Amino acid sequence: MKTLLLTGGAGFIGGCFVRRAVESGRYKIVNLDALTYAGNLDSIPAEGPNHVFVRGSIGDPELVASLLDTHRPDAVLNFAAESHVDRSIDGPGEFIETNINGTFRLLNASLGYWNKLPADSQRAFRFLHVSTDEVYGSLGAEGYFTETTPYSPNSPYSASKAASDHLVRAWLHTYGLPTLVTNCSNNYGPYQFPEKLIPLMTLNAIEGKPLPVYGDGLNVRDWLYVEDHCSALEAVLERGEIGETYNVGGNCEQANIKIVKTICETVQALIPGLGHRCDELITHVTDRPGHDRRYAIDTGKIRDALGWTPQTDFASGIRQTVQWYIDNSMWIERVTSGNYQRERLGVTTG
Ligand SMILES: NC(=O)c1ccc[n+]([C@@H]2O[C@H](COP(=O)([O-])OP(=O)(O)OC[C@H]3O[C@@H](n4cnc5c(N)ncnc54)[C@H](O)[C@@H]3O)[C@@H](O)[C@H]2O)c1
Repeated sequence: MKTLLLTGGAGFIGGCFVRRAVESGRYKIVNLDALTYAGNLDSIPAEGPNHVFVRGSIGDPELVASLLDTHRPDAVLNFAAESHVDRSIDGPGEFIETNINGTFRLLNASLGYWNKLPADSQRAFRFLHVSTDEVYGSLGAEGYFTETTPYSPNSPYSASKAASDHLVRAWLHTYGLPTLVTNCSNNYGPYQFPEKLIPLMTLNAIEGKPLPVYGDGLNVRDWLYVEDHCSALEAVLERGEIGETYNVGGNCEQANIKIVKTICETVQALIPGLGHRCDELITHVTDRPGHDRRYAIDTGKIRDALGWTPQTDFASGIRQTVQWYIDNSMWIERVTSGNYQRERLGVTTG
């Protein structure tokens, strides 16, 4: 069984990867997570023979070096990041610190470990960096992001992820560390922190609170069920070619307003006696500054090279997701008991 040093594994996507790994017995996970507001132990399995949890930062070189030396992983999977665009508008500093400096320190510690490995272990080692399609900027009405689309990030979040992708590339080309990068579209599914569009709208729809749609609501995103993202990462980890980047997407472009209306219909269908009309809660609010208009992914490379395609269509994925939020009010209460109360974030005043 392979051992992975997985970072950010108490967050939304990393947590899904950890649950899959522990359930399948496929990997032993050493889970390094700083437990920021976005990380929660309630999202992941308890520690056990295949899951070691360590609270700490990817930016702590001594801690990372000691984890690498102790657990001798076959790969590093870097999920850890500040991930919310609106928060990056309010406070970009944390994004620079974690996404850029943190990735730099993690790369350096991984290189130090890799340099000391015997030749066959060096050949087998992988550093897989989990990134976003937002690094490519915004599309017009036509076209798709491919792996050769020039980077053109527009938000502090996407700029920090773009910088980290470039560092990962440089650590391969300059120092030989065997790296791979994935750039994935918007994920949705259970255990997503309720600041993001789908869980925020779902919870507000259930509770009869306003559904704040940014601008005209016609910004388009490509949506992927989180389990499918994790299966793509497993494919890239196992069969991806060193130095390659792989775009991952759901072939499921939808305008934000359409997503919100689908959530309204789904909540209404799953809670028959709700007592209010969800679509009447929709309000259009000031747009996000610098809001990218459209993202769309050409998934041809990962499909042809690695045989990966998404398995969950949006209709069933959104139903499962809404049902999960209906059934898991305790989780929601625990993760939002801090200082986030679903208020509007990311509006500049200048
Ligand atoms: N959510 C999406 O739609 C999406 C799409 C494409 C790519 N991504 C990327 O996937 C990764 C995971 O995204 P997510 O949605 O699960 O994010 P998330 O915000 O839910 O989780 C991030 C996790 O990283 C941890 N973390 C933050 N700073 C850390 C640090 N310095 N050291 C260790 N841990 C730290 C947090 O505690 C949290 O558990 C990110 O790199 C993100 O850029 C996300």
